[in-house]
Amino acid sequence: MKRTNLILISTLFASSFFINTAHADVIDRATILSNTCAGCHGPNGISHGPLTPSIAGLSKEYILESMHDFASGKRPSTVMQRIAKGYSDADIKAVAEYFSKLPSKAVVVNPAHDHKH
Ligand code: HEC
Repeated sequence: MKRTNLILISTLFASSFFINTAHADVIDRATILSNTCAGCHGPNGISHGPLTPSIAGLSKEYILESMHDFASGKRPSTVMQRIAKGYSDADIKAVAEYFSKLPSKAVVVNPAHDHKH
């Protein structure tokens, strides 16, 4: 229980913009967990820098496999090994599902017509 609370507090702190939404009290576990990823992979899993890949819209299987391979060291990484190791199998499944459901960048055919900003 203690560990869960710590994760909740630190992820909410790191992304206080979520606290300001009307849905703050109904945020589910996957959303909170994936908020940590958004710190590097960008809000909604779409990264804005060349150093971190976008992960929105990747298949659930691909994210699951990547996380396990990062954790085991099978797939070399700078930071992902440390991150992947900190997540339980259930947590990895939850975030994989979360990001796989988000629209990927490729969906935006013409950015000028993207009204999400
Ligand atoms: C500290 C920044 C950081 C955080 C936090 C982070 N990532 Fe990453 N992620 C990276 C970087 C950088 C890479 C490229 C591999 C590497 O060097 O570690 C990467 C790669 C990935 C990849 C592979 C993408 C591809 O195209 O093959 C996946 C999947 C991924 N991250 C998922 C996640 C998930 C899920 C979380 C949250 C649990 C997360 N990441 C949190 C920085 C981060």
